[in-house]
Amino acid sequence: MSHRFTRRQFATATGAVALGVSALPAASAAANPVAAPVHRNFPRDFAWGTATSAYQIEGAVNEDGRGPSIWDAYAHTPGKIRDGSNADHAADHYRRYKEDIQLMKALGVNAYRFSIAWPRIFPQGTGAANPKGLDFYNRLVDELLANGIEPFATLYHWDLPQALQDRLGGWQSRDTAKAFGDYAGYVAQHLTDRVRNIFTINESATFIDFGYGAGPVEMAPGVKLPQAGLNQVRHHVALGHGLAVQAIRANGRAGTQVGPAENIVACVPAIETPANIRASEIATREMNGGYLTVILEGRYTDGFLAYAGKDAPVFTAEDLKIISSPVDFVGINVYMPQHYVVATEDASGFALVPFPSSFPRMESDWLRIGPEAMYWAPRNLAKVWNVENIYISENGTSAADQPDAGGKIHDLDRIMYLRNYLTQLQRATAEGVPVRGYFQWSLMDNFEWPDGYDKRFGLYHVDFATQKRSPKLSAEFYRAVVAANALV
Ligand code: BG6
Repeated sequence: MSHRFTRRQFATATGAVALGVSALPAASAAANPVAAPVHRNFPRDFAWGTATSAYQIEGAVNEDGRGPSIWDAYAHTPGKIRDGSNADHAADHYRRYKEDIQLMKALGVNAYRFSIAWPRIFPQGTGAANPKGLDFYNRLVDELLANGIEPFATLYHWDLPQALQDRLGGWQSRDTAKAFGDYAGYVAQHLTDRVRNIFTINESATFIDFGYGAGPVEMAPGVKLPQAGLNQVRHHVALGHGLAVQAIRANGRAGTQVGPAENIVACVPAIETPANIRASEIATREMNGGYLTVILEGRYTDGFLAYAGKDAPVFTAEDLKIISSPVDFVGINVYMPQHYVVATEDASGFALVPFPSSFPRMESDWLRIGPEAMYWAPRNLAKVWNVENIYISENGTSAADQPDAGGKIHDLDRIMYLRNYLTQLQRATAEGVPVRGYFQWSLMDNFEWPDGYDKRFGLYHVDFATQKRSPKLSAEFYRAVVAANALV
């Protein structure tokens, strides 16, 4: 990169290093630990990928028979998206997918996680399928495979067909879970001859909490429910996951691998003492009680039911069996530590430590920097539930991404973030935590939900006026990690 600096900047940048080197005693290259970097490798056959989702990149919302989704309606409602935008065009990936696959190729990745837009496949949510919608994913998958990139498909990344919202109240109805199972079966029937890995639902916690009002209502469908209604939605989403697992087993090619992609509530020991580590394991189980725990154990914990009280979801034993249908892997999206935990003497065994206001954050104010979450989230997932195959289905960060005079984005903060999180991931894999792959969020800048185009998460910058893609410095960092299969 040095040629991009002026001579003066280059001299300043290298001056300190030059001084340091001349002050070192003479030593042979072999004996000098600086000259012989220790490679911190990832496992062989590790899947290195990037991740995206349909509504955030595809655009072409009226193309080839796609039906409207709840995000079309939400984004077009004045005042909902901070910059007043929507994803009608987004990154125009629907037309530019071949070019985008070349961007992946340039990174050297061997895997790609994308999502399938349910309203392209079933424009009304149920009923007649739309073969033209499926054709897009056929073309995408074929092009990925032709370029040596393994497709990992997500079935639901939040773009529910609007028809199901209108008819059923979306996930407030069990019938939506049933419709999701049917859609999953259809996709499995048509794509699993080539797609070997399927994520069911992306981040249930995010779209439920922000879409149905556990906190501020910031996402589609933009409904504010009381606690009992929220817990019922959570239950229907978990049921949808289970029905999808069963439908994929029934309709897909034998051996298709399936699992969730959840933003696990990452519980990190505040100080890594044996007692706090144990407390973080207990907290992991309880704090994920509404989704991952019931998927992996087939029961709501006593703690979850006691906390929910009269607002607990209504469910049957049969529901729990469906929800806990065995999965092949668990995908977790890890962006930050949700909680730091210490051990307590009381019955719960753990306490959540409040965050100080000075705790560091990235460009998005929700994105706290805590790289050790990338160690503890998969480590506790493996420890608490004996999960044998884990994917980091998302990790990444927004950044200010200011271009220099030549237009290049030197996103050192994103590199810092990724390097530190990957260091913790390598710590986990070196200890034998069974993480099989990592998907960086995101391949390119996209429509970031309520933030519109105001927040950028891509390794590639997208100029949304021209649709030009340009690699940021972080793309070069990631390419180097992937090429070495090690930290660089
Ligand atoms: C994850 C989502 O929560 O984080 C992605 O799965 C999303 O779809 C990413 O783009 C960044 O979050 P946000 O809310 O800042 O867009």
